[in-house]
Amino acid sequence: MTDLTKRILVVEDNPGDVDLIREYLDEADFDHVVDHAPRLADAIIELRSDVPPGAVLLDLGLPDGMGIDTLRRILDAAGDVPILVLTGRDDRELAVRTMQEGAQDYLVKDGLTPDGLTRALRRAMERVAQDRLHRQTEEALRQSEDRFRSAFLTAPYGMALVAPDGRFMRVNHALCDLLGYTEPEVLAGDVQTFTHPEDCDADGAHIAGILAGDAVSYALEKRFVRKGGQVVWVHVSVSLVRSWDGSPVHFVMQVLDLSQRKDLEQRLLQAQKMEAVGQLTGGLAHDFNNLLGVITGNLELLLRSVRKDDRAFRRAQAAYHAALRGADLTRQMLAFSRRQILEVKDIDARALLEGLVGLLRRTLGEAVELRLKQANSLWSIRTDGSQLESAILNLALNARDAMPQGGHLTIETMNVHLDAEYAARDHDVVPGDYVLVAVSDTGTGIPAEIIDRVFEPFFTTKEVGKGTGLGLSMVFGFAKQSGGHIKVYSEGGRGTVVKLFLPRSKGTVGDAAATADEPDDDGAPFPATVLVVDDREDLRMVAAEMLEDLGYTVMVAESGPAALLMLARNRAIDLLLTDIVMPGGMSGPQLAQAARDRWPRLPILFMSGYAEGAILREGQIGTEHDLISKPFRRADLARKVRAALLNGPGAGTS
Ligand SMILES: Nc1ncnc2c1ncn2[C@@H]1O[C@H](COP(=O)(O)OP(=O)(O)OP(=O)(O)O)[C@@H](O)[C@H]1O
Ligand SMILES: [Mg+2]
Repeated sequence: MTDLTKRILVVEDNPGDVDLIREYLDEADFDHVVDHAPRLADAIIELRSDVPPGAVLLDLGLPDGMGIDTLRRILDAAGDVPILVLTGRDDRELAVRTMQEGAQDYLVKDGLTPDGLTRALRRAMERVAQDRLHRQTEEALRQSEDRFRSAFLTAPYGMALVAPDGRFMRVNHALCDLLGYTEPEVLAGDVQTFTHPEDCDADGAHIAGILAGDAVSYALEKRFVRKGGQVVWVHVSVSLVRSWDGSPVHFVMQVLDLSQRKDLEQRLLQAQKMEAVGQLTGGLAHDFNNLLGVITGNLELLLRSVRKDDRAFRRAQAAYHAALRGADLTRQMLAFSRRQILEVKDIDARALLEGLVGLLRRTLGEAVELRLKQANSLWSIRTDGSQLESAILNLALNARDAMPQGGHLTIETMNVHLDAEYAARDHDVVPGDYVLVAVSDTGTGIPAEIIDRVFEPFFTTKEVGKGTGLGLSMVFGFAKQSGGHIKVYSEGGRGTVVKLFLPRSKGTVGDAAATADEPDDDGAPFPATVLVVDDREDLRMVAAEMLEDLGYTVMVAESGPAALLMLARNRAIDLLLTDIVMPGGMSGPQLAQAARDRWPRLPILFMSGYAEGAILREGQIGTEHDLISKPFRRADLARKVRAALLNGPGAGTS
């Protein structure tokens, strides 16, 4: 097959000249095909065909065209096919003009040789081929640049070209979004402009190292400051592009947004800190609780014996009230560390809140308007009702304190489902159904700098004597211990919302209401003997003396095995009152189990300073009649012992 580009089109009305050209080309061994167009119109058709010739030899004097006009018309149709003018006139001026118009060469018929002709053709065709190649290369380059540019611009992470002096040369969309500025705004600045002041030095040191040739690239976690001042953590990797002579051209910078990861890390750290503080607080509170148990117990007994001596009575009473206040504080600390004894039942939060409204109104005062927005069919929740009341009261008190000028306090309840996605954001949230109790106020709000700390025990912004910083700690611990969780949102000046999520219960509220009415009368319902088991003598004695004071016959044992021995020897024991955590291999629940195995009708009452998660989970204790928390007041002990004796064994166990 003939190479089509080697087809030479001779546009010439003189057949003699055409023959001559054929001869010349043959003679010079030019690999070609010669086609002939006698008229301009024929030539134009040829040039516009699908297979145009490789070159055109054009006579300027044709039947349908003369001079420069002929050339122009043929150039119009020629595209990149080279046109060589072949004419009888050796006219320098015309030659120059034809070349200016776009002819590749100007050949004069008279002086033409085979060699001259082929050389001219070759030169013209090569030049055109080179031009074409050049254009194709440029096009390919442009396309490739386009691809890179769009990859750069639309990359999902930030990218930039940075001049050696730190100025931004090119930035992509993701980086502008991350910084919160428009592209021109970013380009007007340099890297330092957007870097957190504390991170500028580290960044600068790395850059200097690279420029000095110590390294070719570096990666670093640092902070940028967004438009509006918000700080965002990023991972940047930077490498230097040098020119052939080694001089720096620009840096290539990649920027990954770390805010999500940092957020998670931060929250995990905070949770761990709370856990550690919880351990500490809980341990401390437990010891204090035991001491306070001895103090309040003995003071109560003392109060009864000095009733007739006015001064002594007042002193003992002052001491007693201070000790009760101490017990209150330790209870909140225990609550924070999730070691509070929860008397868990199915609770109707709706009803509980209705019942609390009166107290809340009185506590909040005139200036604060209370609004209650309850969901119509609220699920029941499984929790400790009186702890929930304390929690809500604590939140309401905080709200009141945040609204010294008055405002609105809104308590809202609703059913919510927390899905896996929500749970993933908070490391100890379990997906599921919850009842949400949201307490919002229109107060001062909590500044962003301290909002992470408000649940910490003893964190308070209130004056000495006004707040202990245990309120929210108690609510926090209570929420966690109930299997729920708590969130606080606040905007400076606009108020605060605390959201308490409590897990939906499996049962229905009706089940719970079946708690027996307790008698008002304190004393022993009938002559009865109580066996008190506690490893600590002081606590054992307080309980024994209170019980004796209430009219019971009391026996004491210091351990589980000792108690079992007494039970075996003494058939007249009517109630076993035992501590839960005891050393020496037999715990309270184990003692209870052994006793029940042998004397199934024996009522048992537990007492404990704090809830052992495991014991509660096993479901052995934790219901109304089975448990009394230490330190207890005489009246509480009276009520519980009496109920246990009247209701018989296992009355409170569900
Ligand atoms: N609704 C609120 N509005 C504004 N700030 C609040 C709000 N609730 C809590 N805070 C802030 O959180 C801190 C801790 O609250 P928390 O209830 O734990 O302790 P407290 O109220 O200071 O003392 P306590 O409750 O033990 O008497 C408060 O001192 C206050 O700065
Ligand atoms: Mg408070």
